[in-house]
Parts: sequence; structure tokens; C-alpha cells
Amino acid sequence: MVQIEGKSMNPVTACAAMPDPGAVVRDVVARHGGDAHELVQILREVQDRCDWISPEAIDCLVAELRVPRTKIEAVAGFYSFFYLVPRGAYRVLFSDNITDRLAGSAGLKSRMCRNLWVEPGKVSEDGVVSVDLTSCTGMCDQGPAMLVNNRAITNLDDARVDAICELIRNRVALDDWPAEFFRVDNNIRRADMLLGGTFTSGSAIEAVEARGAQGLLEELRISNLRGRGGAGFDVVTKWSLCREAPGAAHYVVCNADEGEPGTFKDRVLLTECPDLVFEGMTLCARAIGARLGYVYLRGEYCYLLDLLEGVLARRRAQGLLGQSILGVAGYDFDIVIHLGAGAYVCGEESALIESLEGKRGTPRNRPPFPVTSGYLGQPTVVNNVETFAAAALVALNGGAWFAAVGTPQSTGTKLLSVSGDCERPGIYEYPFGVSVAQILADCGAGDAQAVQVGGPSGTCIDAGEFGRRIAFEDIPTAGAFMVFGAQRDMFDVARNFTRFFAHESCGFCTPCRVGTSLLNDLMDKLARGHGSPYDFAEIEKLNLRLRALSHCGLGHSACNPVLETIAKFRSTYERRLVHTQYVPAFDLDRALAAARQMTGREDAGAHIGEAT
Ligand SMILES: Cc1cc2nc3c(=O)[nH]c(=O)nc-3n(C[C@H](O)[C@H](O)[C@H](O)COP(=O)(O)O)c2cc1C
Ligand code: SF4
Repeated sequence: MVQIEGKSMNPVTACAAMPDPGAVVRDVVARHGGDAHELVQILREVQDRCDWISPEAIDCLVAELRVPRTKIEAVAGFYSFFYLVPRGAYRVLFSDNITDRLAGSAGLKSRMCRNLWVEPGKVSEDGVVSVDLTSCTGMCDQGPAMLVNNRAITNLDDARVDAICELIRNRVALDDWPAEFFRVDNNIRRADMLLGGTFTSGSAIEAVEARGAQGLLEELRISNLRGRGGAGFDVVTKWSLCREAPGAAHYVVCNADEGEPGTFKDRVLLTECPDLVFEGMTLCARAIGARLGYVYLRGEYCYLLDLLEGVLARRRAQGLLGQSILGVAGYDFDIVIHLGAGAYVCGEESALIESLEGKRGTPRNRPPFPVTSGYLGQPTVVNNVETFAAAALVALNGGAWFAAVGTPQSTGTKLLSVSGDCERPGIYEYPFGVSVAQILADCGAGDAQAVQVGGPSGTCIDAGEFGRRIAFEDIPTAGAFMVFGAQRDMFDVARNFTRFFAHESCGFCTPCRVGTSLLNDLMDKLARGHGSPYDFAEIEKLNLRLRALSHCGLGHSACNPVLETIAKFRSTYERRLVHTQYVPAFDLDRALAAARQMTGREDAGAHIGEAT
């Protein structure tokens, strides 16, 4: 602890000495009305104030929430951003997304570890700092990026990393770090109907009140608006099914989890047009008869919380949320923001609902679908951020206006998060039907050899396919558009994606839990030069099992990046198949690394195969 004005202070938060976990838990639980459904939010707030979730904090949670200890530990253990052991007062997580890697994040991480005398993945001996990796932070247009105690820092380079090390060594409170470090740019390069229009809050609600809820559904039908979160499910069908489903209450959920590596358009939409998104949710509430809505905001975007809460407060003051919206008796609706805690699978709608209910984010069996049995078992609409924003525009301007843009099967516009090897990374809003070649020309990607559209679970497009179009009928996407220049090795790209899936598998079903790990091991084996053609057959077998037997979309798509790059960039794999006969994955020399480290031996005689 450092002394500030004679008081003992926490070095990181610069507030009074580390608080009593019991007092913190009692305070946080009371503010959440003792509701165990709020467990994920409660854990997050306890950790924010205590740095970790200690056994004392768990004892107190058990008593206050009357929930078994095993359940609290199971939930806390599920999410990457919760710590059941101390992880250092400064918890540094480098984004391990492929675009951050291409921009040099691995070297910057090593630099920081050397500089602070800390081993990757461990806590420094003085307990001050830990340095580790996290999956994509949603800052791919301004990477390399990192999180320090969940706060995003962008545009890392040697100088910035050195400055951060100095701040940590001097125990400077995060609030006193240069504001510039935490700046997140929106980088809007092309705006259209969503990002380019001027929207007056309340105008879409007024338009719907003139037409009625049935009129809104009719406009949505004419618009042919489809979900923007990836699957492209038709919005009018989802809202109508939910409206008709019996239940004690109906709910609206906005999926702002945005965990797919390479995607950051919801971050920008929520920053630039929060009114449009909240208005879309409020209209959905009108259509389905909901009184409560949730925004499930990914933990990495917690810096947006104040802005969004401010907009919600303003909308309440304007009569656009709360009781009798715009004076219409019975039109009561409000929105609550929940923060995620570092689990990609929580973007899957049923896992998201589990998380909202204070549980581990394990995908549910479907059917029943959320429209009939969602949050607390009640009918629930889950839509992506961009879908709600587009729905508000349909309500305001009419379905025909919306359907006039894009293609007949893919109406309206699509926000694309462009990153990687291009001169102008950022957000591009295009009418559906735009070609990959056009986007590459606009973002300044002259020498692209491949584009990964839709993130690791999406599609890899090679140069021969750049004439293809972004549309549900050709290349559907939630919005990630990662460009890889001619100098890149597509094997490394696929290996990064494989690592991502192995890390993010929730572990619920064996085919995915084991299969993603085996796939990761196979890619590591190829990278070490131990591959043979037998490994291709092994990858094929894993794919068949994962596809057929996995419980959710993560497992179904986990092999895609490897299979697609084998098909389109085979030479990068063949270079690594140095053996004609099968070679086992187990590497005895590697397994002895720890023994070598303990004995301080690194000479040739200490290596298998190199001893004379
Ligand atoms: C592993 C996994 C992760 C997902 N992540 C997201 C996400 O971050 N955001 C999102 O909107 N949809 C995500 N989805 C899709 C959702 O399950 C769901 O289809 C979507 O929220 C529905 O909204 P939409 O109809 O507006 O697209 C994910 C699906 C899977 C299988
Ligand atoms: S497929 Fe993977 S992520 Fe999905 S439920 Fe199974 S283990 Fe979890």
C-alpha cells in the first residue's frame, strides 16, 4: 500500500485500503435486491471492488443469496474475467486476436513481461501484476490492444508498453493514466442509412403509435428485415411468434456480446446511435407486449456503460422509457444493461439467457426456442444490436423504403468491421450485395490474398472469389471482414482460430470440449514440423464428429478455418508435412523442457535426438 495524505491506499484504485469482502458483498447484494438471478453482475461488482473473488466473499454470497457454494464457484469459474485466486493488482490481458498478432502483439507482450520481470500467465512475485492473453477485445481496427483491469487500451507500440510498465512499477492508479491510452476511435469510413442518417429520438415510436403494433409487424414483413447477428432469421416471424406465445411476461434482449473475433460494429453502433438501438427495443416491446428489456453488453465494452446509462436516463426523462411511454396507457417498458464477463459462447442466444439468469453460459437444448421459452422460461425476443437499429428505421420510414436498398433476399445495409492488412481499417456500411473486391478497394487492401468474412466461424475467401457478394444468398456475415495480405501465412491464421475455439469451448459437450483441443494439438504438431498426411485424415474425422455431435454452433464451425485453408492454401500445410510416415503428437523433447529449465541445461546433450 502507498501512503496518500497520511492514509493507506490501494495502489491501483487509489481508494481507501482494500475493502472488507463481506461488507462489499452485503452492499452489492442489497443493491441487487438479493436476487440470485443477478449473480453474474454481483460477482463482477464484487471483483471490481476487491480485485478478486475471495473465499470470504464467497462465504458471504452463500449466506446473502442462499445459493450453494458449489453453484457460486461453478458460475465464477466459468467466466474468464472472474478470478478465484489473486491475479495481481494490475491484471493485464493482451488481445490474442489474429489481427493483433499480425500487428505485433506477441512481441509487445514479451517486452512487457521482460520489463516487469513477470512470467506470462503468472503473477509477479510482489503480487502487483499479471500478464496473460484474452480472446479478441473488439478493438481490431486500432490494435494491438490490451485490457488492464477490464479497461481497454488501444494502439499499443513499444513506447506505449514501456510507459505502461513505468506506470505499473510506480503503482499509479488507473484513473491517473493518460486518457489518450484509453481512447477508442469509431473509425467510420462509410456511412449509409444507419450511421449516416439523423434520427430524432421518439420519432419511430410516434410513427408506430399512428399505425399500431399490427401495422409495425406489417412494415417489418414488407421490409424483409433479417437478423444481423449471423443466422439471418427473419425479424417479423420472430417477433410474431413471441407476441403469440403464452407467458406471464415477455422480454426483449439485445445481444451486444459481439465476441466473434474481428467484429466491432456493435461497439460503434452503440456509441454513435444508442437511441436508434433503444428505440428498436422499445418498438419490439410494443409488438410482443414486453415490460422489461436487457442489453447484454460484452465485458470488454464496460467503458460504454456510463454513456449508455446516460442515454437511458435521458429517454426516461423524455417519456420514451418507463410508465405510459409517450402518454400511451399500458405502454410500459424499461431497459437494464447487463455486462458479460469474458465468454464468447454467451453470444449464443440461449447461453446468453442462462448468463442473464445468473448461471454458467451453457447453451440450452433447442427447441424450445427463446421466442416461447427464453428468459426465466418466458417468451423472449433476442436480436442483435444492428437488427434493433434497423427495425427502428423500418418503423420510421416504412418497409418499402427499407426494402428498396440491398438485394431482394438481403434488404437494407450491413455494417462491416474491416481490419487486418489494409490502409483504412474501420466500419463500412454498405447496401447488401456489395462485392468483396469493392470493399477491398475502399479500405486500401491492394495485395490481399484472402479475407476471413464472419470471423473464425465464418468463411475464408481467396483471391479467386473476390467477385462474391456480401448477402445472405452469397456470403452471409455478422460483420467481421479480416484482410490478409500476400505476405501472410494462412496456416498461422487458421492456427490462431483453432486456439480460439479450444479456449472458448464451454466444455459442456464432449465432442466439442475434446475435439477442439485435439484439433489445436494437431495444428501445434504441424507447426512443430511433426506432421504427415495422416494428420489431414485425422482433421477430417474430427470435423465429422464435431459437426454431427456438438451441442451448439461453436462446435459445429470449429473445424471450418482449418478445412477451408487446407482447401484454398494447401501449400502452406504441405510445407509442414515433412514426414511421409505417421509421427505421434507426443513430443518427448518438449515434455522434458521443464526438467531442463530446473537443471539450467539448454545444451545439445540435454535434448532428445541431439545427444551424441
Ligand atoms: C457461439 C455463438 C456465438 C454467437 N455470438 C453472437 C454475438 O456475439 N452477437 C449476436 O448478435 N449473435 C451471436 N450469435 C447468434 C445468436 O445465437 C442469435 O442468433 C442472434 O443473437 C439473433 O439475433 P439476430 O436474429 O438479430 O441476428 C452467436 C451464435 C453462436 C452459436
Ligand atoms: S458445442 Fe462447445 S461451446 Fe457448444 S455447448 Fe458444446 S462444448 Fe459448449
